[in-house]
Amino acid sequence: MMVPLPDLAATQALGMAIAGQLTRGDAVLLQGDLGSGKTTLARAILVALGVAEAVPSPTFTLVQAYDTPRLTVSHYDLYRLKRAAELDELGLGEALEDGAALIEWPERAEGRLPRDALTIRLQADAERRAVLEGPMRWQSLEIANV
Ligand SMILES: Nc1ncnc2c1ncn2[C@@H]1O[C@H](COP(=O)(O)OP(=O)(O)OP(=O)(O)O)[C@@H](O)[C@H]1O
Ligand SMILES: [Mg+2]
Repeated sequence: MMVPLPDLAATQALGMAIAGQLTRGDAVLLQGDLGSGKTTLARAILVALGVAEAVPSPTFTLVQAYDTPRLTVSHYDLYRLKRAAELDELGLGEALEDGAALIEWPERAEGRLPRDALTIRLQADAERRAVLEGPMRWQSLEIANV
């Protein structure tokens, strides 16, 4: 599924739709070049789940966990991961047992991520857009018109 993201409102609408379906055990892989909008979409999902605090990019901490009313969500940014094996120290297995995970730069952890993840490829070249791929239940996302 391709979703045009011409402005921040469009990213917020996509974030809301994903948040509505997100459950324990879900991994959302946010792929895309520097500045393509990965953190912005992660933030939109977290805000839609009720996170009121600031959502910084976990560039240096690599992971930041949020307790939302319905679900615990761990936000990863693997850009600075040196070896895929380092991921084991970041508690992804536990994070997925307890809740959901939003993962920027999943390419850094090749082969260590759930196969049934929702993959979102963000592009910001000619026009901003997201391409979603994942199990059936993600194919019926209802995204509000903004
Ligand atoms: N749909 C959108 N419309 C307009 N601007 C956007 C949109 N999505 C993101 N942006 C802007 O693009 C910039 C980069 O976004 P963001 O930090 O989310 O990218 P990123 O993919 O997380 O980058 P990095 O690879 O550095 O982590 C920000 O200034 C953000 O406000
Ligand atoms: Mg980012």
